[in-house]
Amino acid sequence: MEHINAIILAAGKGSRMNAAKPKVLQVLSDKTLLGHVLTQAQALCSQVFVVVGFGGDQVRHFFKDDSIHWVGQAEQLGTGHAVQQAMPHIDDDSISLVLYGDVPLIEQSTLEKLTAQVQKSGVALLSVILENPTGYGRIIRQNNQIQAIVEQKDASIEQLKICEVNTGVMAVDSGLLRSYLSKLDSNNTQGEFYLTDIIAMAVGTGKTIASVIVENECEVAGVNDKIQLATLERAFQKNQASQFMQQGLMLRDPARFDCRGNLSFGQDCEIDVNVVLEGDVSIGNNTTIAPNCIIRNTKIGDNVVILPNSLIEDAVIGDGAFIGPFARIRPESKIGNNVKIGNFVEVKKSTIGKGSKISHLSYVGDTVMGEEVNIGAGVITCNYDGVNKHQTTIGDGAFIGSDTQLVAPVVIGKNALIGAGSTITKNAPDNALTLSRAKQSSLKKGIKNHD
Ligand code: UD1
Ligand code: CA
Repeated sequence: MEHINAIILAAGKGSRMNAAKPKVLQVLSDKTLLGHVLTQAQALCSQVFVVVGFGGDQVRHFFKDDSIHWVGQAEQLGTGHAVQQAMPHIDDDSISLVLYGDVPLIEQSTLEKLTAQVQKSGVALLSVILENPTGYGRIIRQNNQIQAIVEQKDASIEQLKICEVNTGVMAVDSGLLRSYLSKLDSNNTQGEFYLTDIIAMAVGTGKTIASVIVENECEVAGVNDKIQLATLERAFQKNQASQFMQQGLMLRDPARFDCRGNLSFGQDCEIDVNVVLEGDVSIGNNTTIAPNCIIRNTKIGDNVVILPNSLIEDAVIGDGAFIGPFARIRPESKIGNNVKIGNFVEVKKSTIGKGSKISHLSYVGDTVMGEEVNIGAGVITCNYDGVNKHQTTIGDGAFIGSDTQLVAPVVIGKNALIGAGSTITKNAPDNALTLSRAKQSSLKKGIKNHD
């Protein structure tokens, strides 16, 4: 098979986005629109050309990928003109696959089917049948053979009734494409060089146009404004949620679940409504996630319970852990097996040993905590002196009384008992009660009369 070059058209401004950044940098799920197209193109093609115009430098800079060939199109004179800009870099003995930078959900299997058709006919077109074809180029067939594409603005009333439309995606023998492009003119309503005119040219030289009709409209839906962007995001999420459920994940309401990244899960997991997963998230067996949790780049073990409104990022959560409600677990935290992180507890860059409990209203940062430690309500590690961060170490079996401040750097010994309300500034020994606070005393109330 001949090698394939992708030519991704991305020079348009996308004015209907009403945004400062170029349209193709708008985000769907975890990637930009162009990022989605690039992923597909790079999987199939030996070279990838991206035609940029409006905000081209911004687009180039965003991807910082040396394998992409950027081609400038200073003036947007039409899709044919855009493809022409890439042709000097493309050899005749190859297939050119034209894609759009604002059509993000195109699938690998569809592109494979399409490019496979080029071998025999030289030109293969991807079309779709729409209930409402308004705005698209119509596919003109005679005896079922494709004859031409007529743009909406150039079409007759009869042609406007045709529901089979051009998706814009096509695969063409590069040598043929080069010769057709050199003959394009802009004698049409829009005064543009239409790529679509090459179809009638090919038919004129006796070619039969191959075609693939795509089943799922979303695959070829373009994004022009934020309403369409949100619609495609939903379609993407719905499809992804269906796949997860088929693989055994229970989603209480798939319409209120977002995964923007990669998710893996074991058996019997359940996710309640309004959960957002980002980056790489893995969940073991029999784990449940309650409503309104946000979880990013985290590995979660078996039999974990995550209660509502918890936010977890770049962390590891051990088997049997109990998290939340309203827990915040920040990057580089390792939560051991059977640990409890309760409500309004923030953990940062800390290791929490097996079976330890931090149940209420605490901040634990830059801490190495042993096993079976009990942290009372309101305990805080004072890890920052205004310049540097310092470490707190807490031994196995320690009991830290409520409302204690552990001023780091500090080491709390094994089975140490810290009296409630202490401010600990020096190391506390193993197996001993340490407390630091003024002795309680009571004074008789003096009653003073003011006149
Ligand atoms: C094009 C097709 C139409 C098809 C429709 C599908 C042509 C003449 N028409 O129409 O048959 O039904 O797409 O969406 O091809 N672009 C450039 N440089 C340019 C012009 C466009 O890079 O000079 C890029 C745009 O950024 C966009 C894509 O090409 O990503 C399509 O351009 P657009 O102007 O939206 O084409 P349509 O008029 O919608
Ligand atoms: Ca368009």
